[in-house]
Amino acid sequence: MLITHVKIDGFKNLSEISFEPDIYYNIIVGENAQGKTNLLEALWIMSGCKSFRGSKERDYIALDKSSFISEVGIWDDVRDQKITYEMIKGGNITKNITINGVKQKGTRNLFDVFKCIAFIPDDVEIIKGAPEKRRNFVDMAASQLNPVFVAHITKNNAVMNQRNALLKSIMQGNSDSSILEIWDKQAAHEGALISYMRDSYIKKLNQVCGELYYAISGGKEKLELEYKSNVFKAEDFELPCDEAAFEKYFNKLRESEEYDIRTGITHSGVNRDEINIKINGISAKEYGSQGQIKSAALVIKLAQAEIFTKRSKDAPVVFLDDVMGELDENRQRFVFDIIRNMQVFITTPNERTLLPDIKGKILRISGGRIAEELR
Ligand SMILES: Nc1ncnc2c1ncn2[C@@H]1O[C@H](COP(=O)(O)OP(=O)(O)OP(=O)(O)O)[C@@H](O)[C@H]1O
Ligand SMILES: [Mg+2]
Repeated sequence: MLITHVKIDGFKNLSEISFEPDIYYNIIVGENAQGKTNLLEALWIMSGCKSFRGSKERDYIALDKSSFISEVGIWDDVRDQKITYEMIKGGNITKNITINGVKQKGTRNLFDVFKCIAFIPDDVEIIKGAPEKRRNFVDMAASQLNPVFVAHITKNNAVMNQRNALLKSIMQGNSDSSILEIWDKQAAHEGALISYMRDSYIKKLNQVCGELYYAISGGKEKLELEYKSNVFKAEDFELPCDEAAFEKYFNKLRESEEYDIRTGITHSGVNRDEINIKINGISAKEYGSQGQIKSAALVIKLAQAEIFTKRSKDAPVVFLDDVMGELDENRQRFVFDIIRNMQVFITTPNERTLLPDIKGKILRISGGRIAEELR
């Protein structure tokens, strides 16, 4: 997958950006606060995902403007596609998105057209952060492989919102607890499918991460990822996801019903899942050194790229925000070896921290504008 052209105007501090990226390396160089990360972020949201640094949509638009507009060309090894994304400030934010000139209802279809992976310093949160960070990462990575997954996640979230609203209403004496069963049936269906998909993705991830981490640590350390479903045991996943699995999930929801009603929130199911990440058999979150945590986060993202590339026979576009300069030469080589043949956008305040053989297009950015040059 390749970005063939880029136009951005009015996204944060970016203005009148227009360039044709190199098919391999694009090195975005500039001093602090010039717009390097903004450029990656503007490209990233074209994949339909929320900001990788948690910016609110309202803050996408430049402070002194009332809208932003961006356009990218995507070559996916079969055809050229064009995405346009416009956002206009008002009482509410209006979004106008088109794919190949066809107006889109939301951002959902973008995910199918443009696949990318971002490496950011915050990735360490996958290891160090709350369980939700790990669940979100796995859900997004699994969705890239199989877009059906997005529909199940969306449906499950909707059902959970309804269920939790109903729990509160029952607690206040405004609804009858017998209605819960309807929501529990739906939650069981979606939740069981999500559990099985998470299990399958984490198994793949564990295998690839194991190999990569072994290599990056010079054969000294072992990284393991293990899915801890809130409902199913490891051996349950050897059986198919059928009526028996739905029933198991349903029964688990029923078990915590009383407590759920008292507290107004659902205490069982996929929203309580955990993914244990261990280095040499002990929790990376609790005991990992900074270097181990950084390497593990990097390896997990690299594994995501590798799994996606193998499955779809097309590589995702890779964004590296300020992560290369922190790596020693061996680790940089290791990373570049895995993402070779992928289109990469790298930001750095100083291109001399990058390996000299990383050649491509240099995009110098200053005050939100760029000037191209070749390295
Ligand atoms: N909505 C906005 N309108 C205008 N400017 C904005 C908006 N949001 C953020 N900015 C500005 O964009 C500038 C560049 O931000 P960005 O994070 O891209 O910098 P950077 O080049 O990645 O810097 P660093 O090297 O420090 O990471 C910041 O100074 C910020 O104030
Ligand atoms: Mg930055």
